[in-house]
Amino acid sequence: MKKVLLSFVVAIYSIVVFAQDDIILTGDVKKLAVHDSRLDISTTHAFVRIQVYSANVIRVRMSGQPFGDDFSYAVIVQPGDVDLSPAETGAAGGFSIAGSEITGNTITMPVLSTRSGATTSLTIAGTLTQSDQAILFHTDSLKVRITKRPFSISFYTPDDRPINEDETGLATSRIGTEVTTYKHLQQGERFIGLGEKTGPLDRRGKAYTNWNSDVFGYSVTQDPLYSTIPFYIGIHHGLQYGIFFDNSAQSSFNFGASNDRFSSFSARGGEMNYYFIYHSSVKDIIRSYTWLTGRMKMPPLWSLGYQQNRYSYYPDTEVYRIAHTLREKHLPADGITLDIHYMDHYKLFTWNKERFPDPKGMIDSLGKMGFKLTLIVDPGIKVEKGYPAYESGLQQNIFLKYPDGQPYTAEVWPGWCHFPDFTSGKGRAWWRQQVTGYTSLGVAGIWNDMNEIATWGQATPGNILFDYDGHPTTHLRGHNVFGLEMARSSYEGAREALQKRPFILSRAGYAGLQRYTALWTGDNRAEDDHMLAGVRLLTSLGLSGVAFSAMDVGGFTGNPTTGLYTRWMQLGAFIPYFRNHTQFNTKSAEPWSFGEETLDIARYYINLRYRLLPYLYSTFH
Ligand code: GLC
Repeated sequence: MKKVLLSFVVAIYSIVVFAQDDIILTGDVKKLAVHDSRLDISTTHAFVRIQVYSANVIRVRMSGQPFGDDFSYAVIVQPGDVDLSPAETGAAGGFSIAGSEITGNTITMPVLSTRSGATTSLTIAGTLTQSDQAILFHTDSLKVRITKRPFSISFYTPDDRPINEDETGLATSRIGTEVTTYKHLQQGERFIGLGEKTGPLDRRGKAYTNWNSDVFGYSVTQDPLYSTIPFYIGIHHGLQYGIFFDNSAQSSFNFGASNDRFSSFSARGGEMNYYFIYHSSVKDIIRSYTWLTGRMKMPPLWSLGYQQNRYSYYPDTEVYRIAHTLREKHLPADGITLDIHYMDHYKLFTWNKERFPDPKGMIDSLGKMGFKLTLIVDPGIKVEKGYPAYESGLQQNIFLKYPDGQPYTAEVWPGWCHFPDFTSGKGRAWWRQQVTGYTSLGVAGIWNDMNEIATWGQATPGNILFDYDGHPTTHLRGHNVFGLEMARSSYEGAREALQKRPFILSRAGYAGLQRYTALWTGDNRAEDDHMLAGVRLLTSLGLSGVAFSAMDVGGFTGNPTTGLYTRWMQLGAFIPYFRNHTQFNTKSAEPWSFGEETLDIARYYINLRYRLLPYLYSTFH
């Protein structure tokens, strides 16, 4: 009996020791300092920084080490900046407290200052009280409670209804380099958003991963897909809030999958760093999220018209045939897109001279017929002596490298390639310069593909170094922002060169991508359930700040039935970016390829789209 008891005690002891070694909890609040609108807290095992951004937006930052430089590719505002967009509803206002170390038990801070913006005057006011158990403060819109032993943070309405609470006993912890925050699963709580995610719009009971992936012919339940937007909205008891978890490492979200206790978000490295947003409507939560991460510029009007695509239209005579047929058949259209076959052996920034002997002449002629040209670009630059993009990339030292200084080489369409580091200023400047080779010919749109990064093998090594704009890091943190920064480079290059609004499309991206680009949902299938999946994906993107989105109408892989194609074209009329696209080995998928009845229906709906254009354009504004 004694022996059994002893081994039981040993077993329990080793579990506890093992657990304590492996998981680091936040521990108790030890110290609080207040600087302007920021609280700095030290706990047993963490540093916590709580920053009031506005009356509705509170940032929570936690780290095992003292905070380093603060840098984000997504967030573009500073605490207290005023949202200049019209119609922000609810209270304007914020919070500010004096810069002092707090040692006493209870203090109350008075109103301190006023800031003015161009259109709004923002009064900053706030109160902070401290007791043995908790730190409490409120803004004009919400109340925050920080429990001290152990640390946890919760948010309440001004009349004390819980909006969002750390799960007691779990709160935030680390296992190795992975950091996770656990939130109490409220009764009846629903979750929406999280960007380009498959499955039902209500994400309760599901879990997701963010790691930008090239997923040719993905299934309608697959995860992850191409882009990462770690922002979701929780809804319960008639309340709603948003959480934006700004960490570009691989992240995971759990909305009550395999547990009945919490929703959670975690990242494989870096800080816990999230923005809590509360408003009385979902619309205003999205407005605050896009205040943080930026809003899209007005797209050029032509990009809202119908776009004809396939992989690929070549040579130029085929492009003319498509353009003429669209006009002959009275199908309004504004755009034609060239896929990878316009290049010489898929080499970026080159033209296949046999297929396209006179690109500028062709673009001019298309222009006279009322078409704008969009070109595909991929990030892989072929390793080939004498090829100008390769040589100048090497010379300007802009390619991603291993730690020993050798450039990273992987295979994609042109063969073995190097890849620009879009997270470095010089990488982006180089790309902007390259893009002017297109815009000088009259190219009006840049379609950024394969920017997850996609390579044959789909296993980019973790030890590739990224500049991360002066915050050197590895692929593990650079991966999810590579596509965002490529789209940004294309946008900035084309915007500067054209001196007008370009159209930019991207497949991969990170939160904030809406500042530069539209996003499409990649290589879907010509199957019924993909049309529905596409609607859900675009709706979820819309809830996540990306209003300008698209799916391949008609389906990318495979051949749609006539019925499916027809319905998809009808639906396409209501998709923000309306393009018909299909793979290289499929049947023709232009609107006239499925018989007279389909042609008539497609024409009717494309015309309806054009009748709605003024409305759509205004809605973008
Ligand atoms: C990728 C893209 C697809 C494109 C093809 C060839 O699969 O997602 O849209 O047509 O590459 O460039």
